[in-house]
Amino acid sequence: MALRSALLWFLFVVSAHVTDAQWKPRSRMILTDASHHQPVQWGFSSASPQPSAGPEPGDRAPAFQVPTLDGKFSYEPADALNGSVVIHAFTNKSGFLESLWSSESSLKSLVEGLPGRTQVLFLSLDDSAVSDALWMREQLHRAAADSAKKEVLTRLHFSPVPVFALGNWIPNVLYYWGCMGHNCGLSQAVFTSDGWKMPIIIKRLDARYDWLMGRWSTKTYQLADAGDGCEPSPSLGGAVAWVSEGNCSFFTKVHSMAKSNASGVLVYSLPGNPIQDMNCAGDECYFPLGIPAAMVHQEVSVTQALLSGQAVNISFQTTPSPNFFIGIDQQGALAEMGWFLYPSFSFVNWQAQWFEFSAGLQNKLQSPAKVIPVFDQVTMQGDKGAVATVDLPSDLGNFDMLELDASLSCPGKRDSSCAQWDHTVQLYVCCDQLSQYCNTELGRWITAFRRGTGHWLTDVSPLIPLLDSNKCTFTMKTVPWAMPWVVSLNLRFSARNQTGEGLENLRPFKVTPLYSGGTFDKDYNKRYQPMKFAIPSSTKKVELFAVITGHGSDENGCGEFCVTSHHFLINAIYNNSQKFDSAGTALGCTLRVKEGAVPNEHGTWLYGRGGWCDGLQVDPLRIDVSKQVNMSDFESNTVVYFGLFNGQDPNPSQQPGYIIMSSFLIFYK
Ligand SMILES: *[C@@H]1O[C@H](CO)[C@@H](O)[C@H](O)[C@H]1NC(C)=O
Ligand SMILES: *[C@@H]1O[C@H](CO)[C@@H](O)[C@H](O)[C@H]1NC(C)=O
Ligand SMILES: *[C@@H]1O[C@H](CO)[C@@H](O)[C@H](O)[C@H]1NC(C)=O
Ligand SMILES: *[C@@H]1O[C@H](CO)[C@@H](O)[C@H](O)[C@H]1NC(C)=O
Ligand SMILES: *[C@@H]1O[C@H](CO)[C@@H](O)[C@H](O)[C@H]1NC(C)=O
Ligand SMILES: *[C@@H]1O[C@H](CO)[C@@H](O)[C@H](O)[C@H]1NC(C)=O
Ligand SMILES: *[C@@H]1O[C@H](CO)[C@@H](O)[C@H](O)[C@H]1NC(C)=O
Ligand SMILES: *[C@@H]1O[C@H](CO)[C@@H](O)[C@H](O)[C@H]1NC(C)=O
Repeated sequence: MALRSALLWFLFVVSAHVTDAQWKPRSRMILTDASHHQPVQWGFSSASPQPSAGPEPGDRAPAFQVPTLDGKFSYEPADALNGSVVIHAFTNKSGFLESLWSSESSLKSLVEGLPGRTQVLFLSLDDSAVSDALWMREQLHRAAADSAKKEVLTRLHFSPVPVFALGNWIPNVLYYWGCMGHNCGLSQAVFTSDGWKMPIIIKRLDARYDWLMGRWSTKTYQLADAGDGCEPSPSLGGAVAWVSEGNCSFFTKVHSMAKSNASGVLVYSLPGNPIQDMNCAGDECYFPLGIPAAMVHQEVSVTQALLSGQAVNISFQTTPSPNFFIGIDQQGALAEMGWFLYPSFSFVNWQAQWFEFSAGLQNKLQSPAKVIPVFDQVTMQGDKGAVATVDLPSDLGNFDMLELDASLSCPGKRDSSCAQWDHTVQLYVCCDQLSQYCNTELGRWITAFRRGTGHWLTDVSPLIPLLDSNKCTFTMKTVPWAMPWVVSLNLRFSARNQTGEGLENLRPFKVTPLYSGGTFDKDYNKRYQPMKFAIPSSTKKVELFAVITGHGSDENGCGEFCVTSHHFLINAIYNNSQKFDSAGTALGCTLRVKEGAVPNEHGTWLYGRGGWCDGLQVDPLRIDVSKQVNMSDFESNTVVYFGLFNGQDPNPSQQPGYIIMSSFLIFYK
């Protein structure tokens, strides 16, 4: 009872402070709803009979209600399929969040890009929850004012009740999942000076790491005033430069301060301006700088102390905070929202797009198929990888479709337990040791850098002939030094629906391996000679099938971040091409979240890459080449492969990259 009356008292106090006449707590009863006071039992893991210490990703999100400026927001597990829910807890103690909420492009991205069925609940962690809710609503309504997409506003819910007073399970999850990192934790600058009784501690926002390579160390630096920082100063002798916003770009400031021997740069905002995301623009981005920089608000005592010649020291700290974002996916499970590389609501959109993808995938997995489990939560690590031998159905001949239902998760339930880096994962199959098909690649994926939600369905039907015995061994592996991944793999056999376009139910019956990749240097194309291929009698259709990815980094970023194209020339005239146009683009892989690319990974997952994205399957290239071959000539058809960089033979001057390729001709009858 005590808790209940405290909450009612609180709501009364809160409403007494409301200045916006539009807001009325329509239902005070909400907070007396008994369901809020029932302790929630968190997941019993299957491995142990003990309840876990708290809610974890994957646990079912219980029902809740929260008062909002417009009434209330209610969630029932049965509603999950309606769309995902994102819960955001704001605090103005975070420079990251201040910037997220002040940047026009960030606000616009939410208004323009929030997937159609996602609801967002905005909360505040602080005593100022009422004014925070009003401010957040105002920011988004303003951003939507000249937008055609006002409908989105009906899906945004702002609560004036601070997180610490909600009385439901949400605070538990936010605090229990607390983190330090880009989108959570409180990054701070700590100033000390002999004239002060207390240090001055203010929030900061570090510049993006992808153009500023420097990191603050844990040591104490001296602070030195350097005006607007647009011109190099006399040597700063390793001090951190204190410079004002304005008069030149952030890049120019950091560049000239680096030349002046500063150890780092603190840019303070002009009065009334928010903390911004300091980034490079245009050509500046091609000159990585080696010192760290951060943005803060101006602190008058600091400026005054420096002007009066008082020594000021500066150090940097990050204080843990509750998590600022959690999600409820369309299966009704709690979900992490990943790592926001910079302060933009685009990261909310990408995670919500992925929730939609995941719901669509779950739907597809409901369709009828003969499912052969290969790996069920098997640890893949080291030279051996994950290996399993399975019996295939005896009625394989009835199926013309084979899909790989694969997922990569982590040793623990949190993303923090996941392996780093984006490594290639390959699946090999061997059904008959003596067969030419033994140990051919059946599928390829790229790991999601420190995220454990990857799950993909890949159509590899043309490779059914590789399963040339009823007992097959599957090996899935990545580089042996990678931290462990937990893999699951099901083979899904089904009968493709007839299109009724006069095509008979063609089945692949023979696979002819073509070329593999290699070092992408000036001799790359000299290694490929034309091949003659035989067309078996009764062939009705011939298909080119290739899985190609570019890796490594020469001076042009090849093959990961350069535009390569791959050509299979058939009978000297038909040029079948695949070009990786989006390689090296700033947001290339964000466009593929809808296809299952895991968003909000660590690292630079958003950049486009040579034929792949972090946390995604590699889509096979498939081209029907039946019309390019002479079906009645059993011998003299030819094919040759070549790979180009920007339309030319590669010719790197340093550390050439490499291409990983499997390619085949598939014969159907
Ligand atoms: C989900 O959809 C049902 C039926 O349209 C509706 O009654 C329910 O309120 C919806 N739930 C949410 C959270 O939108
Ligand atoms: C956030 O804090 C900054 C200074 O720390 C202040 O200028 C700004 O008005 C605050 N915003 C809100 C919404 O409280
Ligand atoms: C500033 O740092 C220097 C060197 O680390 C130290 O000797 C000095 O006591 C510090 N002064 C203050 C006020 O912290
Ligand atoms: C910008 O440059 C002008 C002229 O040099 C100077 O007066 C002004 O203080 C500078 N602004 C800032 C914010 O430093
Ligand atoms: C920066 O420091 C280096 C070595 O400490 C010194 O040689 C150089 O002259 C300094 N540069 C400036 C602009 O003072
Ligand atoms: C096959 O496709 C047709 C037309 O798209 C559809 O009406 C039919 O239900 C499908 N049959 C099966 C078994 O999926
Ligand atoms: C196909 O090959 C046969 C046998 O070599 C030849 O007679 C025929 O002219 C070829 N057809 C075409 C269209 O080239
Ligand atoms: C195939 O196409 C690529 C680009 O479209 C071109 O650079 C190449 O020269 C072509 N090769 C042939 C033999 O036609």
